[in-house]
This record gives sequence, C-alpha cells and structure tokens, in this order.
Amino acid sequence: MSNSAQHRARICVALDMADAAAAADLARRLHGVVDMVKVGMELFYAAGAEGYAKVAQAGLPVFLDLKLHDIPNTVARGLTSLLALSPPPAILNVHASGGPAMLRAAAQAVDGRAKLVAVTVLTALSGDDLAAIGLAGPPHDAVLRLAALARESGLDGVVCSPEEVAAIRAALGDDFLTIVPGIRPAGAGLNDQKRAATPKAAQAAGADILVIGRPITQAPDPVAAAMEIRTALEQSSA
Ligand code: C5P
Repeated sequence: MSNSAQHRARICVALDMADAAAAADLARRLHGVVDMVKVGMELFYAAGAEGYAKVAQAGLPVFLDLKLHDIPNTVARGLTSLLALSPPPAILNVHASGGPAMLRAAAQAVDGRAKLVAVTVLTALSGDDLAAIGLAGPPHDAVLRLAALARESGLDGVVCSPEEVAAIRAALGDDFLTIVPGIRPAGAGLNDQKRAATPKAAQAAGADILVIGRPITQAPDPVAAAMEIRTALEQSSA
C-alpha cells in the first residue's frame, strides 16, 4: 500500500461497545461513508461469534482486534478459529512480542486469508514501564525492532501511533500496512489519548488506515462526523 501522496487513508471506526445490536446499527449507518469497522475485546467477549456476525453483516470489512499472544501452536489455532467466523474478518492481529516462532506460525495459519498485523509496544507503556518488564531502551527503538521482526516473520503490517508512522514507513517501506489509532479531528477533545494527530496529519505521515472511535461514535451525528473526516482526507490526498 503506498502512502498519502496518492491514496486517501482508509477510515476504520472502532466500535468500542459491548452491545452488538447497537454496534451493528452504527455499522449499517456508516456503510458507504467509512471503509471498515473495528471489533475489539469488549464486544467480542460480551457478544461472541453471534455478536460479531451481526456487525459483520452490515457489510463493512471487520478488523477483529483481539491481540493474540500465546505459544505458536495456540495462536495459530486461535487464528484458524477466528477465520472460520462468518463472514471472516478482513484484519486480525497478534502481539509482536510473542516472538519470531509465534509470528511465523500466525502468518502461516492466516496464509493470506486476512491481513495479519502486529501490535508492537502498547502506547500506554512508558519507558519506565518497559524497564519494569525487562525491556531496555526507549519505546521508539522497541517499536521499530518489533515492527521489523513482524515484517521478517511474514506479517502484513503493524498497529502504531501517529508518532511512529513516518519512521516505520522509512524503515520498512510503502507496502507494509500501518494502522493508526489516536486520531482526533482538529478541535476535538482528546479523551484519554495523549499523543493524538489529526486525520490529515496521520495521512500525510503515511498512515494507511486510521482507527477512529469516539470522535465518530460519540458524535451527535456519527454519519456527519465521519463524512467530515472523509472529506478532509480526500481534499488533502492527491
Ligand atoms: O475512541 P478512540 O478514537 O480513542 O478509539 C481508538 C481505538 O483504538 C480504541 O479501540 C483503542 O483501544 C484503540 N487503540 C488506541 N491506541 C493504541 C492502540 C489501540 O487507541 N495504541
């Protein structure tokens, strides 16, 4: 996937809610305006495969954000189970810190049936937090190291913060997918995001997919909020 000079970044709406019917309703309303939706642990653990199916049947591709992290065999089999969901997710993810054997097993299990991306270092972790779990050095170095490992192991991309996109692009090239949360339209509240970027800035840094939750889901008119973001992205892509 090449970057912002040619392409509009895609919009993925994070449906962070436990109520599958509400999530599916929102997904239906946003169809045609946004490019995909993200279903995470909250919804999947509460509503299971049935809840997932309700959302997926709205017709938008689903990023199933369950961040698997276990021994290689268990992760591979877990991914195989997730690919049997109907309709299957478009994007799945695992923790890069599961290590090379786990990442390779994950990539083999998915075998191109979905995009498989890695979580590098959770943005909630500071340098001190990393030291506390025995990871020396600045978070930025760990992010680049784990992103490179993900690529070498056959994964399609990473989830990363707006601050990391440009460095990952420079190090790993244009065909490595960057999925970027922490997006806030100019003038919007930050909620609990500490290092947010506007949609345009993240697109300009090379983000392929922008994960946007509350600025759309909590807006008085979610469809209008999504449309405004889409228009801003289209205006600034060539
Ligand atoms: O509501 P908001 O736009 O902050 O939602 C962002 C989404 O991206 C949430 O689902 C959140 O869990 C996820 N995310 C994040 N920061 C990361 C990784 C994922 O905000 N570093």
